[in-house]
Amino acid sequence: MTMCGIVGYVGNNSAKDMIIDGLKSLEYRGYDSAGIALNAKGKIIVRKESGVIANLEKKIGKQDFDGNLGIGHTRWATHGSPIRENAHPHLSADGRIAIVHNGIIENYLELKAQLKKNHRIEFKSETDSEVIAHLIGAHYKGDLVEAVRKAVERMRGAYAVGAIAADEPDKIVAVRKDAPLIAGIGQDSNYLASDIPALLKYTRDIYLIENDEIVIITADDIKIYDEDMTRVRREVMHVTWDAAAAEKGGYEHFMKKEICEQPEGIRETLERRLDDRGDIKLDGVELTKKELDAIDRIYIVACGTASHAGMQGKALIERFAGIPTETDLASEFRYRNPLVNERTLFLCISQSGETLDTLEALREAKRKGARVLSICNVVGSSVARESDDVFYTWAGPEIAVASTKAYTTQLVCLYLIALYMGRERGVLPESEYRRMIEELRALPQKAEETLKTENQIRELAERFCIKEQIFYIGRGQDVGTAYEASLKLKEVSYINSFAIAAGELKHGTIALIRKQTLFFVLASQDALYEKMLSNIEEIKARSAHVVSIAKKGNRRIAKVSDETIFIPQCADEVAPILAVIPLQLLAYHIAKLKKRNIDKPRNLAKSVTVE
Ligand code: G6P
Repeated sequence: MTMCGIVGYVGNNSAKDMIIDGLKSLEYRGYDSAGIALNAKGKIIVRKESGVIANLEKKIGKQDFDGNLGIGHTRWATHGSPIRENAHPHLSADGRIAIVHNGIIENYLELKAQLKKNHRIEFKSETDSEVIAHLIGAHYKGDLVEAVRKAVERMRGAYAVGAIAADEPDKIVAVRKDAPLIAGIGQDSNYLASDIPALLKYTRDIYLIENDEIVIITADDIKIYDEDMTRVRREVMHVTWDAAAAEKGGYEHFMKKEICEQPEGIRETLERRLDDRGDIKLDGVELTKKELDAIDRIYIVACGTASHAGMQGKALIERFAGIPTETDLASEFRYRNPLVNERTLFLCISQSGETLDTLEALREAKRKGARVLSICNVVGSSVARESDDVFYTWAGPEIAVASTKAYTTQLVCLYLIALYMGRERGVLPESEYRRMIEELRALPQKAEETLKTENQIRELAERFCIKEQIFYIGRGQDVGTAYEASLKLKEVSYINSFAIAAGELKHGTIALIRKQTLFFVLASQDALYEKMLSNIEEIKARSAHVVSIAKKGNRRIAKVSDETIFIPQCADEVAPILAVIPLQLLAYHIAKLKKRNIDKPRNLAKSVTVE
């Protein structure tokens, strides 16, 4: 089982309260059940509930038990349905060891069969995770660390595991491999978690646990060991996020808050890298002319929204830097034996830095000798740690599952990288470089202005929320925006939508057009404006309804469209950042009218750590 949240506490206070509180801070990750295990006077007490964490809280709130040590978990179902039995923590056969697990145990069926045969164990859940509890239980001879190590030797897959034993009421033992895990440093208390927000209320000083490490957490110490049990010295990482940034700050939904934070995110991501003279600083990433000339191909690889940013990245790098660039979905790249070698630059984009497909693609590229540069929003995430270089988006924590501010800041990073490369290689004329820097610097203000389309968008959403399908079309850089707008709508409103390059419409999809079929036509590219006008005529001739997105001042488009949303005047190259904003707002308002679970849409999770 995977995509879950882990929280652990050991100290002098109520473990019950801290763990419930920590789990609540992870609610945004998406989950369908939750549970807690406490060591209460040498006995392990487990309580689990399906549904929201409030159900679990209600259940245990009235019960008179507590302890100074425990682990908790939020689950997002993969192996086994989201019922109470499948929720974590899971217990060993004698009930004296409890575990929580994030990740996936690939050989769990084989392990399950062996445990049943050799130890006559009866399994109580359908999960892969339960085998971990039994494996540890089978190896336990009074030393939890030793038993966990022996269990890990048998496990294949990805995991972050927290374990406690009834007979060792002073410690939590945890291990990780390819799933996020951190330890938090408190006063007379220490913490375990899968994600930083779980601990923000308690501590800002953390250790990032690395692959194959084992960590022993007691109230007054955190000891990290490598797989040979050699003690590892780790630097303390001090988290500088504002706790309020992880809360909604007055907005009804995180998604709305994050859409509105885009001008700020764009400004941060940009200004930190631009000096007074307009020169780009790549945060110490070395990309010299010699190094760039040694690159003959760039692959941009990502999933979901990040892959749409990648589509824009290809256009920008080829245009400004003249290096052949391919984009691929991480889930495809991994399995197609891509032509990667030492002359390849692998550009990986991931908001969370924990998406398994993206991580595995990154590893594959590294194995083949490519240099890996990542664009990532989470400091210390797996992608960040495994890359040769990282270029961070400074979007701040993105909580809503549907990505908005991470996307636009990813685009900003791509502009900076492409322009830097072009200038360094000497293929981008200085005047062109200067023009683009001016365009970028104007973006935060223009994004602010674009947000003012909200009233118009709200009104459109009221009329269109009854539609069963919506089409998005565009050409050039508008294709990526169309893809992203369509994904946003699907994710949060559950309306079927379709995005296609406008020129392709006539090659099949046009057959779907009927009276009043709704089209959002992206026409932000001046160079392709006339072509888009023809596309509008083509659709209108079939009685479709057309809403265009165009730059201010483009009157002709307003004449041929049923309605037009105007974005500020800007260069074609930077228009994708502005054009997507009204369409993010559209998805949001339609979802709101349809009373959807906007921040945590059904079946989705913020970071997908399974294939
Ligand atoms: C999940 C999310 C998407 C996201 C994708 C990639 O599927 O639901 O919204 O775009 O993962 O996430 P990443 O963190 O790698 O950018």
